[in-house]
Amino acid sequence: MKRIGVLTSGGDSPGMNAAIRAVVRKAIFHDLEVFGVKNGYQGLMEGNIVQMDLGSVGDIIQRGGTILFSARSEEFKTDAGQQRAIDQLNKFGIEGLIVIGGDGSFRGAQKLTDKGFPCIGVPGTIDNDISGTDFTIGFDTSLNTIIEAVDKVRDTATSHERTYIIEVMGRNAGDLALWAGLAGGAESILIPEKKEDFSDIVDRLKRGHDRGKKHSIIVLAEGVGSGFEYGDKIEKATQLETRVTVLGYIQRGGSPTATDRVLASRLGAKAVELLKANDGGRMVGIQNNQLVDYAFDEVFTENHTINEEMYQLSKELSI
Ligand code: F6P
Repeated sequence: MKRIGVLTSGGDSPGMNAAIRAVVRKAIFHDLEVFGVKNGYQGLMEGNIVQMDLGSVGDIIQRGGTILFSARSEEFKTDAGQQRAIDQLNKFGIEGLIVIGGDGSFRGAQKLTDKGFPCIGVPGTIDNDISGTDFTIGFDTSLNTIIEAVDKVRDTATSHERTYIIEVMGRNAGDLALWAGLAGGAESILIPEKKEDFSDIVDRLKRGHDRGKKHSIIVLAEGVGSGFEYGDKIEKATQLETRVTVLGYIQRGGSPTATDRVLASRLGAKAVELLKANDGGRMVGIQNNQLVDYAFDEVFTENHTINEEMYQLSKELSI
């Protein structure tokens, strides 16, 4: 293989640029030509493709977002759209494609691979919801953004002796909420993977208040429901003044942490190695700090699970 492409797809995440940089630099180091596809699969179908050189990825390792932009594409979900994409790749003489994104993006990469065009997936999403890897690119940065917010909310919660609900992203996964709740010392962590009786949440808040707790913080994963609806229910049930903060898209931005930059560099480089070996239809990941790779269909059959030990610990430490 002498000519490869790279694109970013789905929700962007801090560290995607570090991954793009690693793909381009690794490819050129090994005498491959590398082309950047702009605007994800939509741009691919439209032929929005430019050759990249060492300078194309200068001074981006520290930048959030993605210099290749990202988009979600309904048309690409069709056979015709996928064929349009392959026609464009063939027109540019590109022989393999690296897709940096989440599981939805990997499903698109699998479709291209099934049609004979080799793709490699690099897990880039803040949600950390892809089985086959302990961590996805962007999760650590987003987690630290959330913690910064939790610490700030804690100050005002104390001043006003209030209960605060902080709604975080994660789509249908609870990793951001679980890790942020544990690191932020939350009284309750509500995640889609663990249904919790509302009465238990209320009892815990009341017990804390009765033993003199000045405030309570509840971290709610968006996959459980609306923070504002929960806040209303909790204030009515506990008669404790309750406020809600929905962190929203700040969780998707910011300069990537060192952890995410190193993870992105390692995964991006590994993806080039797999393509060079003509090993398509796979994703790269990290497990116990070792680089691994799995066939896409192994990934799709497994559901990402939360860390049970951490979840139990969060219960014990928030008595
Ligand atoms: O997948 C990343 C993510 O930020 C999710 O946590 C969130 O639910 C979703 O993207 C938001 O999607 P969009 O950027 O299309 O609004």
